[in-house]
Amino acid sequence: MKPYAVITGASSGLGKSIALELAHRNINLVLIALPYSGLPELSDFIRTNIQVDVHYLELDLSDTKSTYQISDYVNNKKLHIKYLVNNAGVLSKGFFTDLSDRFILSQIAVNITTPTLLTKLLLDNLKASAPASILNISSMASFFALPKKQVYGATKAYLTSLSHSLNKELKRDNISVTAICPGGLNTTSWLCYQNRCMGWLIRKTILNPEDASRIAVNAMFKKEKLVVPGVVNRCLMFVDKILPDFIKDYLTNRELKKLNVSKT
Ligand SMILES: NC(=O)c1ccc[n+]([C@@H]2O[C@H](COP(=O)([O-])OP(=O)(O)OC[C@H]3O[C@@H](n4cnc5c(N)ncnc54)[C@H](OP(=O)(O)O)[C@@H]3O)[C@@H](O)[C@H]2O)c1
Repeated sequence: MKPYAVITGASSGLGKSIALELAHRNINLVLIALPYSGLPELSDFIRTNIQVDVHYLELDLSDTKSTYQISDYVNNKKLHIKYLVNNAGVLSKGFFTDLSDRFILSQIAVNITTPTLLTKLLLDNLKASAPASILNISSMASFFALPKKQVYGATKAYLTSLSHSLNKELKRDNISVTAICPGGLNTTSWLCYQNRCMGWLIRKTILNPEDASRIAVNAMFKKEKLVVPGVVNRCLMFVDKILPDFIKDYLTNRELKKLNVSKT
């Protein structure tokens, strides 16, 4: 029986690329995203052109009930889930003082509560299909103090940390957990525009979703624990380790000043 992968946030960006990458590797799919985000069309496209079975669920993942709906759906249909890709994420929006309570709660729900609960609810199914794998899409933001990315970075730090611990804990069940921490990605049109306006070095850190998804899926199959895609990004991580705190503080404050000026 061909296994299934559950992918959250599969309608666009990195999640859509991961869906295509897994379909090309002959894996059936359960795609999840918000209603009216093109999931029926994407599912048809994959069924017709890649010939794998595709289910889709249009759900709001900022609502905890959605995670129960996903597990009920796959269990009722007796789908064997071998891969879980926690990709859906709410990106950052601005300074902490400017964020609404509603936005913060929704970002925490989608980036933290949903991947945690979904992993828990699908665990028995993953165990039954073992060897199985979980791929958590975190971010390089989980390692740094970044202006305008405070809650986002903190949610991703949680996901990276959860992945580390679960990777150890679930080994005895033959389930691997991989955290992938990309830098910038050219996913939404706004991000593509923003990334193009960045300086030379930052532009070198940016990946296309197609490249990032291939790296992520390969890492999941190799059962790697943590992956930072891109050579320049890995160099930045190394530089961050050896740089004294006062230089990092200086660079962060300089960036903050620039952002504050552009705000006024
Ligand atoms: N873009 C970057 O620079 C970057 C860098 C590092 C890590 N990441 C991470 O990579 C992952 C994918 O990001 P992306 O850039 O591909 O973003 P994206 O293009 O905005 O895609 C996000 C996906 O998550 C789904 N989603 C968001 N909120 C949802 C909700 N409440 N309920 C259901 N689905 C929801 C979206 O569905 P709809 O289409 O229905 O809205 C979409 O499919 C995220 O976890 C992000 O944190 C991104």
